[in-house]
Amino acid sequence: MDLPYTEPYKIKAVEPIHHSNREQRERWIREARYNLFNLPSDHVFIDLLTDSGTGAMSQDQWAAIMTGDESYAGSRSFYELKETITSITGFEFVLPAHQGRAAENVLFSTLIKEGDVVPGNAHFDTTKGHIEFRKAMALDCTIDIASDTVAYHPFKGNLDIDKLEKAVKKYGKQRIPMIIATITCNSTGGQPVSMENLRQVKNFADRHGIPLFYDAARFAENAYFIKTREKEYAELPVIEIIREMFSLADGMTMSSKKDGLVNIGGFLAMNDEKLYKEASRFSIMFEGFLSYGGMAGRDMAALAAGLKEAVTLDFLESRVRQVHYLGNLLKKFNIPLQEPFGGHAIFVNARKMLSGVPQEEYIAQTLAIELYLESGVRAVEIGTLLADRHPQTREERYPALEMVRLAIPRRVYTNNHMDYIAAALQNIYQRRETIRSGYRIVSEAPIMRHFTVELEPA
Ligand code: F0G
Repeated sequence: MDLPYTEPYKIKAVEPIHHSNREQRERWIREARYNLFNLPSDHVFIDLLTDSGTGAMSQDQWAAIMTGDESYAGSRSFYELKETITSITGFEFVLPAHQGRAAENVLFSTLIKEGDVVPGNAHFDTTKGHIEFRKAMALDCTIDIASDTVAYHPFKGNLDIDKLEKAVKKYGKQRIPMIIATITCNSTGGQPVSMENLRQVKNFADRHGIPLFYDAARFAENAYFIKTREKEYAELPVIEIIREMFSLADGMTMSSKKDGLVNIGGFLAMNDEKLYKEASRFSIMFEGFLSYGGMAGRDMAALAAGLKEAVTLDFLESRVRQVHYLGNLLKKFNIPLQEPFGGHAIFVNARKMLSGVPQEEYIAQTLAIELYLESGVRAVEIGTLLADRHPQTREERYPALEMVRLAIPRRVYTNNHMDYIAAALQNIYQRRETIRSGYRIVSEAPIMRHFTVELEPA
């Protein structure tokens, strides 16, 4: 018999979490105005809100915390981090930032202006927010099959070259300051982008003289999928796949809170010195001096250690396979999911599951609230609330998919926790016909409303 996969670590410190009952949860979610972001974490049993900054650090990372150098300028921890990033990505110039969106802010301040168009594969909401904030447009060029949750495609994060071609024809390359490939593509379900597609995008970008940037928050998971789903890469070490991926890009923004295996941090990296110098201005203004950019020395030290662990096959295999363990349990219960499963989360197709809830009543949010009421599990809506209103018309932008994302923190929960989550969703699935109404908005912010929106039952 083949031995099963296991975690390449054992547990040294544990953090208690607490059960609650349905009556308590009904009160707590009402007090939170039916917005799961408003719940104190003590009112949550298993927290699948995000895999961002919620992972567990290793003993090497905790040890690095003690050796971090807190010098304002020229910190040793910065040089360690920079060396690590360069050895993994090949990028020469590194600007630390306090998290991913901060790196976006610095890069976009340098490159994007009003009226520009930024094509990409389903930009993450902060990326889109930072583009639209500059009165530019984030143009989704993901392959169409990505929004068909049951159709099989091994790389549903891929960009559609025809759509890129049309964008250049329609807007002209002068208005396109960059193409952004998000690896893996969070918004379509943590779906990977193939090496073949990255190569095609790079060729396209070169032909038109447009720089290609990666939003690389989950680059290591993306490389794992290339290794396991793209034949010619099966035998290649993960680190070589990663280096080849990055060799196709001009630069990257990074949220280190994902595949950096740390609780806070980010960076921007590139090869063009002129761009680095221009970006440095904004980095100093928004983030801090060039050798810390919003991060403590100890946090840079922990990040350098985390990046080294994140690119190992043992880690990636246990990480992605735990996510797929949950996906396979849910699939056994017939719960409609985005397939094939992605890297950091399982996405439940809420519209299919709660077909009795009208679209105007926020179907995915309704399912996320049901899951919390049922079990104390906190997930997140990836649906109409997140898609937000059109910046000019203020109309609701109903997305192709209404999803609930079950994001799995790295190295935090056991498969028993996965069993509990699956059982809770099965209970809801069995009574899905009885759920026929959702929620309406009481108040909302003009941009990125999902974080602070207040709701009431419809
Ligand atoms: N890009 C992607 C693909 C992301 O998933 C995120 C964050 C960011 C950029 C922004 O990074 O949070 O460090 O500022 N995603 C988190 C999530 C919040 O829950 O998916 P950040």
